[in-house]
Amino acid sequence: MDGVPFLDLKRQYQGIKPEIDQAMMQVVLSHQFILGPELEAFEKEISDYLGVKHAIGVASGTDALLLSLKALGIGPGDEVLTSVYSFFSSAAVICWAGAKPVFVDIEANGFNLDPEAIASKITKHTRAILPVHLFGEPAAMDGIRALAKEENLYLIEDACQAIGSEYQGRKIGGLSEYSCYSFYPTKVLGGFGDGGMAVTDSEQLYQRFSELRVHGAKGSGDRTTIGINSRLDAIQAAVLRVKLKYLNQWIEARRARAKRYRELLAGLPLRLPEEKPDRKHTYNAFVITLDQRDALMDRFRQKGIGFSLYYPRPFHQFSCFKRYLDKNGKFPVAEQASKKSIALPLFPEMTDQEQDQVVNSVKEFFAG
Ligand SMILES: Cc1ncc(COP(=O)(O)O)c(C=O)c1O
Repeated sequence: MDGVPFLDLKRQYQGIKPEIDQAMMQVVLSHQFILGPELEAFEKEISDYLGVKHAIGVASGTDALLLSLKALGIGPGDEVLTSVYSFFSSAAVICWAGAKPVFVDIEANGFNLDPEAIASKITKHTRAILPVHLFGEPAAMDGIRALAKEENLYLIEDACQAIGSEYQGRKIGGLSEYSCYSFYPTKVLGGFGDGGMAVTDSEQLYQRFSELRVHGAKGSGDRTTIGINSRLDAIQAAVLRVKLKYLNQWIEARRARAKRYRELLAGLPLRLPEEKPDRKHTYNAFVITLDQRDALMDRFRQKGIGFSLYYPRPFHQFSCFKRYLDKNGKFPVAEQASKKSIALPLFPEMTDQEQDQVVNSVKEFFAG
């Protein structure tokens, strides 16, 4: 029997090929590759979709996070609290901005920053909290926002894996100073290369961020800030505009697959992703947790079932972050997650038969 791919982006393209090809060709014919109407239209459509006032397209999710920190004036001497368990970028951008990342452990019933663990890490140097909505599940924003307000801290959301995810009935995006997205090809809304976006409700923060992506230019000739070159290419915007029309449909297909996994895997000795009543998970990844993770991985390899490990190493275990660690920093929940979690194949175009194959492999594994 054929195996099951972890992800198959070619299927998605085949389903919308004529529209995508035409959109890309229009940009080629216009030769307006940098900024311009295609990007502006996409920014407007994303802000409408997320229910925020402004969106600014940049070269990657990493740049969206980095420029958000820079736009808020965060730099040397400042501390930024973030989850110890995420994609490398969530912590690296804080270092690139010249600030110190301060890591916080994750919740026991999920993979997001534990709001209870944040307060004890706040010092007089803390300027911001950078929560991550990992795998498409919104972080516990109520607690995080309350703390940020009380302590007068900025909030920058890493929503790179969470476009379309909802918290208390509202899409992630307008709950903080900046929310940042990635359009890396494997994301729920993925381009044909790198791409990213920051969104904000503040006119002033929009202006500051927009200047940073074009070397600080603002039209008057003078420059009051030093920026970099980071724009979302028009050709990416054209592809993403087509895909945005299908986003809700793809999210619902992901949620249906997740529901089916939950039903079919119920009762096995593993932890499934929780559907918390106040949050809409978009399943950028469907991550299960089990004691025999490594043995299951071997079984998947034998059976040709795709899988992925997000993330085998929490930040405090990287050499490059050692110098930022407090002597007493302990992250037991993240350490367990890094040893016991594994992502199963899940994508909108996956078939029932493929999903059954994954489920049967897991069941056979437990049956011995
Ligand atoms: C949680 C998280 N943060 C940040 C990023 C960075 O995005 P990009 O790869 O577009 O720079 C990613 C994407 O991989 C991510 O998953």
